[in-house]
Amino acid sequence: MPYYRSVGDVPRKRHTQFRAPDGRLYAEELMGQEGFSSDSSLLYHRHLPTAIVDAREYDPPAWRRVPNRPLKPRHLQTHKLDAGGSDAITGRQHLLANEDVRISYVVADRPSPLYRNAVGDECLYVESGTARVETAFGVLEVGTGDYVVVPTSVIYRVVPTGEAPVRVLAVEATGHIGPPKRYLSVRGQFLEHSPYCERDVRGPAEPLLADGEDVEVLVQHRSRAGGPGSGGTAWTRHVYANHPFDVVGWDGHLYPWAFNISDFEPITGRLHQPPPVHQTFQGPNFVICSFVPRKVDYHPQAIPVPYNHHNVDSDEVIFYTGGNYEARRGSGIEQGSISVHPSGFTHGPQPGAVERAIGVEYFDELAVMVDTFRPLDLCDQGLACEDTAYAWTWSGRAPD
Ligand SMILES: [Fe+2]
Repeated sequence: MPYYRSVGDVPRKRHTQFRAPDGRLYAEELMGQEGFSSDSSLLYHRHLPTAIVDAREYDPPAWRRVPNRPLKPRHLQTHKLDAGGSDAITGRQHLLANEDVRISYVVADRPSPLYRNAVGDECLYVESGTARVETAFGVLEVGTGDYVVVPTSVIYRVVPTGEAPVRVLAVEATGHIGPPKRYLSVRGQFLEHSPYCERDVRGPAEPLLADGEDVEVLVQHRSRAGGPGSGGTAWTRHVYANHPFDVVGWDGHLYPWAFNISDFEPITGRLHQPPPVHQTFQGPNFVICSFVPRKVDYHPQAIPVPYNHHNVDSDEVIFYTGGNYEARRGSGIEQGSISVHPSGFTHGPQPGAVERAIGVEYFDELAVMVDTFRPLDLCDQGLACEDTAYAWTWSGRAPD
């Protein structure tokens, strides 16, 4: 995160003696990105963060990925997937994946195990429900419409807190996720033209301390020897001598944070604005955008829905999470749907959408888009909830 935060107790100077009331030294840990050349935070543990007592390979639920062949636009119906009986980490149902990003959907009704993703940052979008995201940095209370960014290797777990399960679209990167660079000053402050800023961002407010011995943490980590479709990742079950939620204080620029999509202020114009105005995050070889309810194009002759377009270097994934999506009406797209419009296919509004949109002043739509610069494979659970008729909805005619 671009700005500095300090939580709990930290000593006046870095790397100096800092003692607990009983006289023992706290254990300092610097968690930082890109060697020592990017954002970091300095944490103070009650116990050694290095003290593990067991390490065993762990087999997460298996998933496979297959190329999008034959090349087709796809419609995945996430709400047709099995719901409930799972947690927000091991219950992820993988939909789409490439070397840079893995996209999954999960309906969680129970606390997850403690988990560390050592492969990259995660961006979780809460479609509905509420949860406590407990991390070594403190707690984030999250709910419908929240994006939650968990930096690489932060140990955390997700505890659903509502009557209904929490529904999450999970985006796992192979690298770091942050605000688009063009919205930040050279020193990292959000600029005036950014659609969101520091006041919209929530971070942990106080330390989270838990007691316990021999505490299990599932680690997803880099591995060239990962199995077929694993994306080069493997899992290990570490057992820590003491509970990893033992940080009495930390400060720095690296921490988990949340931001609600309703705080994303849309950029509008007289004529149709291109998707980059909706960009919310950037990751390695992908972007995440937010389509939020907004006043639409107000030139007297404007056509408010998108023109047909072919972004030749991207696969485009849109998760429809609220309202009505005008350009897709008549295609079968509904709440919880995901459209996949791959490179090599020109996409655009469904028939009739252009005429219907003329004169409309406001779109009540809510969607999260992930554009990837490398092709996405389809995962088993994505194919399991595919509406195979979608590809023919522009022509109205399927092959014989
Ligand atoms: Fe598009």
